[in-house]
Amino acid sequence: MAQHILAIDQGTTSTRAIVFDHAGSIVSVGQKEHKQIFPRAGWVEHDPAEITANTRYVIGQALAKADLNIGDLAAVGITNQRETAVVWDRRTGEPVYNAIVWQDTRTQSIVDDLGALGGGADRYKAKVGLPLATYFSGPKVRWILDNVEGARAKAENGDLLFGNTDTWTLWNLTGGPNGGVHVTDVTNASRTMLMDLDTLSWDADIAAEMGIPLSMLPEIRSSSENYGTGVGVLNGVPITGILGDQQAATFGQACFDVGTAKNTYGTGNFMLLNTGTEKVASHNGLLTTVCYKIGSQAPVYALEGSIAVTGSLVQWLRDNLGIIGSASEIEGLARSVEDNGGAYFVPAFSGLFAPYWRADARGALVGLTRFVSKGHLARAVLEATAFQTREVLDAMNADSGVALTELKVDGGMVVNELLMQFQADILDVPVVRPKVAETTALGAAYAAGLAVGYWSGEDELRANWAEDKRWSPELDASERERVYRNWKKAVTKSFDWVD
Ligand code: G3P
Repeated sequence: MAQHILAIDQGTTSTRAIVFDHAGSIVSVGQKEHKQIFPRAGWVEHDPAEITANTRYVIGQALAKADLNIGDLAAVGITNQRETAVVWDRRTGEPVYNAIVWQDTRTQSIVDDLGALGGGADRYKAKVGLPLATYFSGPKVRWILDNVEGARAKAENGDLLFGNTDTWTLWNLTGGPNGGVHVTDVTNASRTMLMDLDTLSWDADIAAEMGIPLSMLPEIRSSSENYGTGVGVLNGVPITGILGDQQAATFGQACFDVGTAKNTYGTGNFMLLNTGTEKVASHNGLLTTVCYKIGSQAPVYALEGSIAVTGSLVQWLRDNLGIIGSASEIEGLARSVEDNGGAYFVPAFSGLFAPYWRADARGALVGLTRFVSKGHLARAVLEATAFQTREVLDAMNADSGVALTELKVDGGMVVNELLMQFQADILDVPVVRPKVAETTALGAAYAAGLAVGYWSGEDELRANWAEDKRWSPELDASERERVYRNWKKAVTKSFDWVD
């Protein structure tokens, strides 16, 4: 068998292709950022054609760097930013509108109108595990059909297809208009608000109520099976794994046992707790979602705490305020002061997700005095990530009835030692970083590799996991609770900002 697995990670800010070997180690990486399009306050879009071009480019880049060709790939896995909605013409392959990104809040009135039919935010929760919110794909598709001229008629005629970016990527890599496979996996489907969590199939009543023709929706499959064979840059290579990026990270962190959890620090933060084959309903603002389904095995569910803005707040500090020149400078700037100087930054740029689900919230920077410097601001930015994570962990402990004893972390921000120490301090549990921090791509590679027998099963994957570093709590309890109380107060100042 060929010696490598390729994972494509179609993320919010960039697309990457990573080649892995059998030990789960990285062999090479290709990466390219794509444009973030902000047409109005609250709107966030991507150009789907740019994403496809970048995907092809980074595949070539990763292979070239390792001096490999496609014959060296046993299989390909796809992982992706979830909920970001693409609608395109099945004959031409042309998107009818830009991709509407998961952070986008334009669907607020659609969401409000659906809730007003009865049940409010919980209208579909028992079936789909999610509260009505702008975050999910279904209302975004509805917006495109309502607002793009001619789109609804074409959709009703069966000419349009919908997909999150996993589906868009798979369809293009398997031939696009010439035989492209229109498929998604259960984890991505569970983020649309359209999939029944028990039957793992589209719910016709919800789709009808949202005004979305079923003919647009991809076929729902497991996360690990043969979906189709690549053409062009992946000619002849089987594509055999799909997992939404947060579920992929959970899989890559080997959280296969009930009660194991990971927290990924990316554009936003996403904590997932494996609840096994049992679907646990949240009473504390978390989502119930599919964690993974390996081939014909039973689906495994998760509770998820989604935080919209963490790493992207650092980017905002760099791009919109120019306080730092690159994201990595934030740690040095934050270390130039002793503490936050009394400043708290609530980054409610897309409203607040878990555990609040407040669409009316907007960013708030509070506690300012003349004393506050850009160093304090840098600290407040980093601390916002840690405080939001504490809120999600508290919700997780309350929902599961068991307190987590340590937290496995991954993602771009976990190189920030100051943040990791503060995170352990605020959670009062150890924070553990694995050797391979690229767990998202690794999870997709695992799903793909399992389907073709490249890896034999979970035990082999577990053995690949190794600890890199651990941070233990150091802060005394009264100081921890004092700053957390202040954070909670700051959060209330972000409410009620939308007219
Ligand atoms: O739900 C959104 C999430 O999938 C995006 O992840 O890592 O691209 O920010 P990331």
